[in-house]
Amino acid sequence: MTTVTDDPALIQDYIERGIQHLWVQTQGVDNLRKEDGLVVIESGDGIYLTDIKGRRFIDAMSGLWVVAVGHGRTELADVAREQMATMAYANTFAYSSKPAVDLATKLAQITPDGINKALFVNSGSEAVETAIRMAKQWHYNRGDKGRYKVISRVGSYHGITAGAMSVNGSNFINRAPFEPLVPGNVAVENVNCARCPYEKTYPECDVFCARTIEDTIKFHRPETIAAFIAEPISTANGCWVPAPEYWRTIRRICDEYDIVMICDEVINGFGRTGEWFGIQHYDVLPDVMTVAKELSSGYLPIAAALASDKIAAGFEGEAGAALVGGSTFGMHPVACAVALANVEIIERENLVANAKKMGVYLDTRLQELQSKHRVVADTRGIGLMHTIEMKRDPESNTDFTDEDAVGERMPRILRDEGILARAGSAIAIAPPLVINGEQVDEMVDIIDRSITRLESELSIA
Ligand SMILES: Cc1ncc(COP(=O)(O)O)c(C=O)c1O
Repeated sequence: MTTVTDDPALIQDYIERGIQHLWVQTQGVDNLRKEDGLVVIESGDGIYLTDIKGRRFIDAMSGLWVVAVGHGRTELADVAREQMATMAYANTFAYSSKPAVDLATKLAQITPDGINKALFVNSGSEAVETAIRMAKQWHYNRGDKGRYKVISRVGSYHGITAGAMSVNGSNFINRAPFEPLVPGNVAVENVNCARCPYEKTYPECDVFCARTIEDTIKFHRPETIAAFIAEPISTANGCWVPAPEYWRTIRRICDEYDIVMICDEVINGFGRTGEWFGIQHYDVLPDVMTVAKELSSGYLPIAAALASDKIAAGFEGEAGAALVGGSTFGMHPVACAVALANVEIIERENLVANAKKMGVYLDTRLQELQSKHRVVADTRGIGLMHTIEMKRDPESNTDFTDEDAVGERMPRILRDEGILARAGSAIAIAPPLVINGEQVDEMVDIIDRSITRLESELSIA
């Protein structure tokens, strides 16, 4: 296969056409026009990606918490080819396919006991929409027709479609241009034990942040509330791992007021946190789980809302009880076949256990950075999902200034040194689950050098 890398004129041509014709999500065109503003990735192997200029990077965020099994798995390409050649597509509203049945069966085996039914869609946002639809219609089918509100948490991220954006519960994505969104979102505070929104301290607080949700429910009247949605271990909010009692408390409150508990496992799922699913750290059963990203390691787009027996039972029986609506490409046979093969790789290669083991090692290595670098305020996370939080001066709790421009500076420095990651004052670290100890060292050494460069560029001794 010829690579673009061999031809400097072609490299430039790709970059220019990319800037002119491609709408790169979340990047302003001005940014793309800056030097090295548009990075065009060409190939990948294991934890590494190579761009058209021939630069090799560690994919320190697995793309976007996606590529669990690593890049370059030709076995997944073979599965896709075979399924396409056998039967690429059939009406997904009325029929099913062997790969869809097989994947749903596998998910019933690996999810917590009591989650046994999968509704497949194409993206995490759609999975969130579907989970909310399930929750609302579950109540409706039982004759409880006034429940339209959904409780979510400040600082959370659940997607980009209108319903998902309505429960984002944050200004992480600027919602203003799209308002009014879907009515009925109620935001409660998130978990953040270092800067508790209630200025309390764990364990004396007795997880007040969870307990107080009951007050919100009473204020809004329980009979108007359909669901509560949150990531078991929040990523958007910066890898805060809730205390053990947190989820048990949420479960108790949801049960008491008949509220559907949706766990958004779009990032947490499939081993990222060192368990198959994030909620398994807490020993409680969700009513609905949403999964996406690592379900297929990104080899093809696929996502799902996974329903508990309790929720699934609410759609049985009378005619008209079936969940309203369908998606043409939901349950796509090729995506299901690839996702199944991906989950089998995660199982066969013990990648969940590897994430747990490498996560412990990564954690100690990141803590070394905290003792070494003045700007590192905190490092935290679980499994292979970590955050490095930086400030201009952590001691006086002084943030970087606008002139410091860390949002532009840090990704550039990391890239120069050989890492692709989401970075600003916080660096998200979530490498593919196949990473080994030497590669953790290689990655942390690069981050170490990068932070030294940041301190030097900003003249922070
Ligand atoms: C927790 C969570 N839920 C939902 C989504 C939306 O997924 P998608 O981008 O596939 O629509 C994301 C995306 O990052 C996410 O992090």
